[in-house]
Amino acid sequence: MSITVRTAEPRDLNQIAELSDRIFRSRRATHMAEEFPYLYSPDNARHWHVAEDGGHIRSIVGAMIWPAVIAGARTRVASVGSVATDPDYRGQGLASRLLQLAQSGLAAEGVRLMLISGDLPLYRTFGARAIGRVDWYALPPNWAVAGRYTIRPIDPDTDAPIVAHLYQTRSTRFGRTLAELRAMLAAQPITQVEQGSKVALLVLADDVPVSYLILNHRPFRGAGASRLSEWAGDPKSMLYALTQVRDWPEQGMRIPVLPDDLAMQGTLYPLQPVRQEPVSWLAKVIDGAGLASDLAPLWDEVAHEPPRVALTAPDVYAVAMDGQRWTADAATLTEWMFGELVPHRPAPLEDVWPMPSLWPEGLNYI
Ligand SMILES: CC(C)(COP(=O)(O)OP(=O)(O)OC[C@H]1O[C@@H](n2cnc3c(N)ncnc32)[C@H](O)[C@@H]1OP(=O)(O)O)[C@@H](O)C(=O)NCCC(=O)NCCS
Repeated sequence: MSITVRTAEPRDLNQIAELSDRIFRSRRATHMAEEFPYLYSPDNARHWHVAEDGGHIRSIVGAMIWPAVIAGARTRVASVGSVATDPDYRGQGLASRLLQLAQSGLAAEGVRLMLISGDLPLYRTFGARAIGRVDWYALPPNWAVAGRYTIRPIDPDTDAPIVAHLYQTRSTRFGRTLAELRAMLAAQPITQVEQGSKVALLVLADDVPVSYLILNHRPFRGAGASRLSEWAGDPKSMLYALTQVRDWPEQGMRIPVLPDDLAMQGTLYPLQPVRQEPVSWLAKVIDGAGLASDLAPLWDEVAHEPPRVALTAPDVYAVAMDGQRWTADAATLTEWMFGELVPHRPAPLEDVWPMPSLWPEGLNYI
């Protein structure tokens, strides 16, 4: 057996989609390539890495590159997903090798941070770590929000620019073109509540759009709670729309609130979170020095002398601040920069870190 690991080419996309469906959609009549049109587009082939044996693709790692804004500062991230190996080829290090290859390719394109969907020992060995913190609130079924709003399903074509404007009010977010946003909205399985799937709603006050929401709706018995997946704009109007959703699920509605989401925390007061956990993706800083230079303007505003980050060996960094110096591997640096729930960050770094985490469960989810 002679296995080659390499960057994918456009002609590989059919085999990649076929392997993905076999692994991830074996019990569903849906297709990964239709659900994630940009990820599986032949134009995105160079961000896939594959292991091939005898002309057949046996292992895949997919990625998409995004501009990102973190607390107002611009940087570049990649979301990594559809990690799969043919069952006959597992346990030989193929996925691990593809992740390393993906890291080199992405870093060469200026990506600073990899966000990896899922949490596997394999990802942690690679150097990815849990980051951020999300407080989950349970919205009571009788929660009343005063206000006069109208609600309607989002039309991917005509409403995309409005959704984009509202999303831009978030200071930590992914950058996405209008065409990408349209495709993401259109790829949502359905915008009707009755279908029991994703619900995409626009909320208006006196005909002015004030918020939107994407709800991962599970109205069926035993299906678990519905989860708010993405929203932006005025939190009160968005909560109002949630209370109006038909087929309130047996397990209720869950609302993720990030630490920098002060307006939402205030709107939900006096409710308290029912659960607190890291965000659902692991992350790995793959270019710590580049990330530090992107974010330095932000740190200047909160620290007398912002931290400096230099690469000293592959995936090993020297971090210096206030006359002190620490060595951190990529996993540790990731936790220091983005971990809300980590106990071991050196005290001086607490002035600037953690940074807000990108919320991975919205439309950019891959
Ligand atoms: C998860 C998955 C992609 C791993 O693929 P893989 O090619 O077997 O991955 P690797 O071989 O690199 O690593 C798997 C394990 O084998 C070990 N391994 C790696 N090289 C090895 C070798 N030469 N000999 C023995 N074991 C080895 C790894 O350490 C790893 O162990 P760990 O899980 O305890 O960390 C594969 O199991 C899969 O397709 N699962 C279903 C889809 C899925 O869950 N995808 C992830 C979505 S989040």
